[in-house]
Amino acid sequence: MLLILLTIAIIALATYLYLKPLIDNLFYSVPHEPKYIHSYIPFIGFGLKMFKDPIEFIRSFYLKYGKTFVIYLASKRWVYFYDEQTFLTKVLKSSDLSIDEFIIDASVYGLSVSRQCVENEDIQQITLKQYHQYLIGDELEILNKRVHDSLIESIKLDAKKGQDNQTRIVNLFDYFGEFMLYAGAEGLFGHSFVIEQRNATPNFYKLFQEFGDACRLSFLRIPFRSILHKSTFQSRLEFVKRFSSLKLNNGESKLIHAREELFRSDKYKHLFSQYDIGALQAGIIWAAVVNTAIMSCWSLVDLLLHPEALEAVKQELKENISSSSTLIYDKETLAKLKILESCINESMRHIFNTVSARQAKIDTIIECLDKTKVGLRKGDMLVYPTFLKHFDPNLFGPNPYEYQYDRFIKKPNEPKAPSVMLFGCGPHMCPGRFLAINEIKMLITVIIQHMDIEFVNMTEQDKDDYRKKLPYDYTKMISSGGPKKGYEHKFDIKYSYKNLDIE
Ligand code: HEM
Repeated sequence: MLLILLTIAIIALATYLYLKPLIDNLFYSVPHEPKYIHSYIPFIGFGLKMFKDPIEFIRSFYLKYGKTFVIYLASKRWVYFYDEQTFLTKVLKSSDLSIDEFIIDASVYGLSVSRQCVENEDIQQITLKQYHQYLIGDELEILNKRVHDSLIESIKLDAKKGQDNQTRIVNLFDYFGEFMLYAGAEGLFGHSFVIEQRNATPNFYKLFQEFGDACRLSFLRIPFRSILHKSTFQSRLEFVKRFSSLKLNNGESKLIHAREELFRSDKYKHLFSQYDIGALQAGIIWAAVVNTAIMSCWSLVDLLLHPEALEAVKQELKENISSSSTLIYDKETLAKLKILESCINESMRHIFNTVSARQAKIDTIIECLDKTKVGLRKGDMLVYPTFLKHFDPNLFGPNPYEYQYDRFIKKPNEPKAPSVMLFGCGPHMCPGRFLAINEIKMLITVIIQHMDIEFVNMTEQDKDDYRKKLPYDYTKMISSGGPKKGYEHKFDIKYSYKNLDIE
């Protein structure tokens, strides 16, 4: 009997979820709505296709339905809108749309912090101002130096562990991912904090990864997550604890100092629990490292797969950094590394499924620059799929996936180098973008200066295949991904050190 009731309940729920978008269309539609594309699979809808390859999936709809269409995903309507000029000049400026509510929900569900602390408008404005004040200028230079010092410290510690010229085998993404985590943490939280983390168990990098996994499961509101993934959630708690009682004036950056003072100030401390403060600070290191680490690894992979690009970068380093000096962290030197910067942009362009989004606060209509109208219901997410631009054959040639390392260096016969939008746009555009590019430049430079690396499981055929398309994991959804499942071992490397004074 119980089984029959359960089956009926599941069928009723599946039918409801399947029909809900169609019922909503009958009752809540607004004028000028774009075409709605219904998925015939209940529960997961288009989720599987999005997980597999969102770029191909959305691109196929764009080619079929044009610049605007609507799909239903994770109980939300997503209005894809490939009209950059209207997005930049009208959507970002419209008071009917905002990303604030989405960011609040992402923090409340993703980080599991209390709503009151992230909903407070003063806190929102002050933290936004802090990002833009403390991740640029003089403070950026301090961060650059600390990141560089940490990278050197990581390789020296590793070199000391074994015999100096011994060859070792590791996974490229895990190995350099851990380097980048310590480097990002050193920049933001200071040297003493990093020493503590290097010596603590469980391993800081492992906790960082599980923190990301738990936030992803919470953000996507996967049912029974804390039961089915109990240990992942325990690790998140453990990770957050490492940030819950930071010692101030202990070498932390101005950004972290200012956030800590704000959260603990007499005026606002009633809004925050100890967990909230730890989770928000842990969230910053996650935002700072998750994309930077993975994108630096893919940039390195592309260089190793394209010897002409690697040669050009080595030449550029030779011309700009004297062999006796490792002072690559000063802003003049970093700014001179144009070929390396082009390589990084090109790697990110051809894999990263970045978008920019705004949510409708009320039923509204956007009038596009071409005079077409797009009707939005309250709650609709309007998404500018930046990756469609990054794969536009008009901008990037007939084979837009192709890696051209010097694509972003202006050629004499071009009016300007092509533009990309890798870090979002508008007031919430990534404030860490300068630090991110500098960090990737420094990691790659340090590797070229001090390491010899070779893939151990990648055949020549694999290399040819990956030059055509990298096996990128799109399932991460809220961040960039490493190699897709089953391909991790292809990125195992053997490495040894050179030109390294480990005393
Ligand atoms: C390759 C590395 C990185 C990529 C691809 C990246 C990308 C992005 C994107 C796409 C956004 C959303 C922008 C929008 O909504 O329009 C964002 C926001 C943000 N990023 Fe980054 N980011 C990177 C590195 C960093 C670093 C190093 C930091 C340093 C702390 C950082 C801090 C942030 C913060 C705090 C926000 C939220 C800003 C806000 O709410 O206004 N990111 N990032």
